[in-house]
Order: sequence, then structure tokens, then C-alpha cells
Amino acid sequence: MSAMRLSLLLLVAAAALSARAAAQMPPFQGGQQGPPVVPAGGQVQPQPVAGGGPLSPEFYSQSCPRTERIIAEVVQSKQMANPTTAAGVLRVFFHDCFVSGCDASVLIASNQFAKSEHDAEINHSLPGDAFDAVVRAKLALELECPGVVSCADILALASRVLVTMTGGPRYPVSLGRRDSLSSSPTAPDVELPHANYTVDRLIQMFGAKGFTVQELVALSGAHTLGFSHCKEFADRLYNFRDKGGKPEDFDPSMNQSYAKGLQAVCKDYLKDPTIAAFNDIMTPGKFDNMYFVNLERGLGLLSTDEELFTDPRTKPLVQRYAANSTAFFDDFGRAMEKLSLFGVKTGADGEIRRRCDAYNNGPMPK
Ligand code: HEM
Repeated sequence: MSAMRLSLLLLVAAAALSARAAAQMPPFQGGQQGPPVVPAGGQVQPQPVAGGGPLSPEFYSQSCPRTERIIAEVVQSKQMANPTTAAGVLRVFFHDCFVSGCDASVLIASNQFAKSEHDAEINHSLPGDAFDAVVRAKLALELECPGVVSCADILALASRVLVTMTGGPRYPVSLGRRDSLSSSPTAPDVELPHANYTVDRLIQMFGAKGFTVQELVALSGAHTLGFSHCKEFADRLYNFRDKGGKPEDFDPSMNQSYAKGLQAVCKDYLKDPTIAAFNDIMTPGKFDNMYFVNLERGLGLLSTDEELFTDPRTKPLVQRYAANSTAFFDDFGRAMEKLSLFGVKTGADGEIRRRCDAYNNGPMPK
């Protein structure tokens, strides 16, 4: 790709993102009762649900048969109005599942009595549009079948709908999750991967939760959508030093034109922390395997992205997914199915929230 085309792409990307930058997750005002910010590689085994049998795609077939259709209508129209919704929802889902399981704990708002996962630094950049999509779906479902569909199931189904809508695979989603009775403000910063982690640390973190190296790489393909703020990759662009401490203009694993373009786009990021760049500069709104093709060309945005192409344990998988979109879709779908069953709450360990940002019994029932 020519340097000029790359620079143009970066300019377009920066312009497209400026509108989105203003729409980050709104800080929740402690104690206010105003309008809800957030109301309301192998065979995956079904998870047991205490008192209700295993999770099942048919879970709501009697109690709320139009569940999937209602969620799809709401989030698809949200995505059409705000095309960055899909990426936001997918990231919120990952941040929910990796911290205490897929239980909507990430949706709980803070209040004057207790802080929630919203307050963890890593979650400050979760976009308001993603929460709004869930809010709207919950409201529509509460009108149709009150108190039946969990917020955790809404998030799982919304993610699948949006992955499919942006061109990605349709994978099975079992239903019957219950919503959490707690939400820790400290766990997300510990339990979620950060952009400065080594591949070693990523493998360890995913491994500790039962995910393989292959699943780590496949799931990272979610970075085919959405964007990252400059602070997440600025250390690759400015005052970069190699492992021996030698100063470089930028991280030499980056394509030169790409790095220079990003240096220009991000130059004021300390004054304006909302500046961001697309994770997949080539096809940012399309769920495809371009993320992996980009890594081969030095067009990975985060160092955790690009390092998947340098580490010998992950490089062959990057190459496979870059060459074979079907292999990526198959593995991504299976890994998402597994992620969506991670640590689900069942029976008395959870509840069906009336609104997704608050426990039914007040600020902190436990
Ligand atoms: C492998 C380790 C991972 C790291 C280190 C990582 C890190 C990040 C960072 C730093 C951002 C930018 C956030 C911002 O500046 O707003 C981001 C965005 C994103 N991440 Fe990840 N992530 C990882 C894995 C995942 C996984 C497994 C998924 C989903 C299955 C995912 C989905 C996303 C999406 C869709 C975005 C774009 C969000 C948006 O546009 O609002 N990430 N990630």
C-alpha cells in the first residue's frame, strides 16, 4: 500500500472518529435517580443451570418467544444510526464475561453506596452507545414479557446479532444466564488484558480462565472492529526505545507510513484524550479477517496486536487466519460460544434484573 493511501485512510479514520469520541460511557452521578444510564477449539458443553436444566438456545421459547427478534430489531437500528455500536457492544460483552462471568455485572451503575465495574479505569472507555443499545433492548423486552429476559442474555444475543450484521459468523448462543448480585470496581483492572501486556502474559491470563492460545488469537480478531484511543498505543509512536534501550522514531515492527500517519493523528492526544484510530485501518466497520492481514504488514495498532505476529506461539495462527477467512470465522465463532458460557450465574446466584443498571433489591443487596 502506498504511503499516500495510508495517510489518507488515517485522515478519514480520524475524522470519522471525532463524532464517536464524544460518546464515551457517561459518568454515573452517584445517587441520582434520573433517567437510567444503563437501565434496566472444540465442542462447547452446555452449562448447568440450578433449578432450570442446561442453558439452551430455546430457553425463552415459551416465556418470551420473540426475544431474539426484539433484540435484533433494537440493536440493528441502533447500529444503523451509530455504526460504532457493534464494536462497543462486543467489547462490553468481553469485559463482562472476563470479570466474574457473563452476568451483566459490567452494566451495574455506581451510586452513593457502592462503586461498580464502571469505575475501573479500563472500563472508562466503554462507549455509551453500547450501553444504550442494551437499555433499549431491555425496555422493549420488559414491555413484551416483563421480568423474564436477563440482561446477561441480552448482552450475549446483542453481541451475536451485531457480529453477524457487520459481516461476521453466526455462532450458537445458549440462553438462561442470570444477572449478577455484585459488581466489583477493582476486578476489571486486574482481570482484563491491557494494551502493554506481553504475549506471555496474555497467554497466561487467558489460560488461567481456560482459554487456549488459539482461542486468544481468534478472539483478538474482534479488533477487526472499532477503535483505540491514542494513549493505548502512544508508547509505540513517541520516545520509543528498543529492548536494549536504543531510541527509535517509532516501534520498528510498525509499517513506516502507518507509524508516521499515527504520529500525526495522535500528536495532540495529551491535550485531547478523545483522539482515536481504527483498530483495523483497512476495513474498520466490517467484521472480516483483515485484522490478521494487517498484522502481517505491520499495520497492527496495539502492541498486543502486533506481537501476536512476532511471538512464535501465535504467529502461525495469525498467518492461518490471514490466509483463510473461513478458518478465522469458524474458530472465532467457537471461541465466542465458549466465552459466552464463561462463569454464567444460575439459580439463586443471580436474578433477572428489572433494569440492567441496578439490582432489584436496591443499591447493593449483598
Ligand atoms: C487479547 C487481549 C486484548 C487486549 C490487550 C485488548 C485491548 C483493547 C484496547 C486497549 C482497546 C481500545 C479501547 C479504547 O481505547 O477505547 C480495545 C478495543 C476493543 N476491543 Fe480489545 N483487547 C483484547 C481482547 C479483546 C477481545 C477478546 C475482544 C472481544 C471478543 C475485544 C474487543 C474489542 C473491541 C470490539 C474493541 C473496539 C471497541 C470500540 O470501538 O468501542 N478485545 N481492546
